[in-house]
Amino acid sequence: MCGIIGFTGRREASPVLLDGLRRLEYRGYDSAGLITGTGNAFHLRKKAGRLAELAKAVSAHPAPGCYGISHTRWATHGGATDRNAHPHLDASGRIAIVHNGVIENYATLKHQLRADGVTFRSDTDTEVLAHLIGHYYHGDLVAAVRQALALVKGTYGVAVVSKDDPGLIVGARLGSPLVIGVGDAGTYLASDANALAGYADKVVYLNDRQLCVLSGDEWEIRDQDLSPVATPLRDIAHFLGEGDAEKGDFPHFMLKEIYEQPETLANAMRGRLVDADSTAHFGGLNLSSQQLRQIDRVILTACGTSYHAGLVGEYLFEELARMPAEVEYASEFRYRNPPINRDTLVFAITQSGETADTLAALRESKRMGHTTLAICNAVGSSIAREACGGVYLHAGPEIGVASTKAFTSQCAVLAMLALYFGRTRHLSSLQGQRLIDELRALPDALRKTLGCHEQVKRIAAKYASARNVLYLGRQYLYPAALEGALKLKEISYIHAEGYPAAEMKHGPIALVDESTPSVFLVPRGNVFDKVMSNMQEIKARGGPVIAVASEGDEEVAALADDVIPVPDVPEYLQPIVVAIPLQLLAYEIALLCGCDVDKPRNLAKSVTVE
Ligand code: G6P
Repeated sequence: MCGIIGFTGRREASPVLLDGLRRLEYRGYDSAGLITGTGNAFHLRKKAGRLAELAKAVSAHPAPGCYGISHTRWATHGGATDRNAHPHLDASGRIAIVHNGVIENYATLKHQLRADGVTFRSDTDTEVLAHLIGHYYHGDLVAAVRQALALVKGTYGVAVVSKDDPGLIVGARLGSPLVIGVGDAGTYLASDANALAGYADKVVYLNDRQLCVLSGDEWEIRDQDLSPVATPLRDIAHFLGEGDAEKGDFPHFMLKEIYEQPETLANAMRGRLVDADSTAHFGGLNLSSQQLRQIDRVILTACGTSYHAGLVGEYLFEELARMPAEVEYASEFRYRNPPINRDTLVFAITQSGETADTLAALRESKRMGHTTLAICNAVGSSIAREACGGVYLHAGPEIGVASTKAFTSQCAVLAMLALYFGRTRHLSSLQGQRLIDELRALPDALRKTLGCHEQVKRIAAKYASARNVLYLGRQYLYPAALEGALKLKEISYIHAEGYPAAEMKHGPIALVDESTPSVFLVPRGNVFDKVMSNMQEIKARGGPVIAVASEGDEEVAALADDVIPVPDVPEYLQPIVVAIPLQLLAYEIALLCGCDVDKPRNLAKSVTVE
């Protein structure tokens, strides 16, 4: 989603800004722009489309100057056009702003500004803020930003420059991350520390409602009443994902990330499985043994793929820990007011740690007095910092917009948490040790599973022209079916639906015909025979069946049109194993459809607006 980079220092700003924006590209965007300054002149370039368009514009009409701000935009208010791209200027053209987030009361503010004679040049909510800052600007940019923001309802991460103050950048945050970076050449302001790798050595994140002022090597954070806040810098390395965000020999980040899963899964478990106590151990839960004993229910809240991991978690907590568990879309949970008792533990599951709805759900839970834990990949992200405690995935940066390795690591962490809670309750040490051994065997099982890639390619070629695909599974494999369908929708734009296999006959079976393939998740397990009956029902109606099944399963092979073999693992780990062929199938079909796999249309990696 939207990204911000600003720089002020001793070198040309535009190459730094363009390079920083490139590193934020993966988050998803539809237009980009930058503004630099020399003397008291501004140089504004902005373009709809890919960053390459902006780079072309800058090379045709260079934007000189040693300070500037820039932005990648993911359209919320107004289409993806040059005009709506950021930066936006105030009426006088003296002030420029880039903004992440949403100004919810923009219509009222716009109405008032129009009545005062302001003419708008874009359809964005951001331009309202530019004019407001301009309205309050009487030579003190920091004061003007503060006064304007006091009128704003919504969320923001902003960077603001003024022609009258060459080299000065003012930033502010509420609900949208901003980080200051300090390096040899000057100081930086960004929405994500990853954009500053190689430029800044030290960073500091702003908290909500704080402002910052940058100029050359100087930087300062101020609170709401503008008094300075002493905040220590930390090494940037602490906030960067392990491993470089490079594709290596892979044609796409998504494929690289699919193939990384044996390793990322091992990383998620490293040092956390303790034979001596037959349990899992986590460094950052921050729960006293009294709190731990009191917890009698868990709520798992998340969005998108992380929500599907939460659904797997529900089964895990119920089966392994015998604890009631509930899963809620964060966007729903934040506005619900369900009766929840005090001893409920709330998990926020998130790859990025910045998803606006998940952050809001976390804050709402904290407000109600619940203990909150984050299951998060991005170190130092807002959710990781605001939760009472948490577990990192250690999966390294996930760049492909469609989440892959984060999902399998989230499932593994949830399995370990269920083991941990189970061991404080009814699980015996022998049962605990069995679970540990099964978890340890998982990276090898994933390595083996990746061997299905060639078979998946053949199947993809056969079904790439389908316009509808059904994904069916039961129990632990129902959330896996939802996730398989989501992967296909996200990157190939083919309509897909995940369903509990037995529910088909209550409606969706009406969709089945020769051109609608069903992907059945049917490795051996307790409900195997039941799922086989469901498969019969689809076959009887002429629907083609692709089965993800246990290696060498003749019974499935006799019924299904195509089979993708996966190694046998216990049922609670099956969602992790079947994720691989489902990710590969979506990937191969998307390639055949000519789609931009890593940057699917309309989507953003990190959704920082509501
Ligand atoms: C976006 C991404 C999805 C992701 C979801 C939740 O929609 O495109 O891939 O699953 O956000 O993100 P999170 O970072 O909170 O896991």
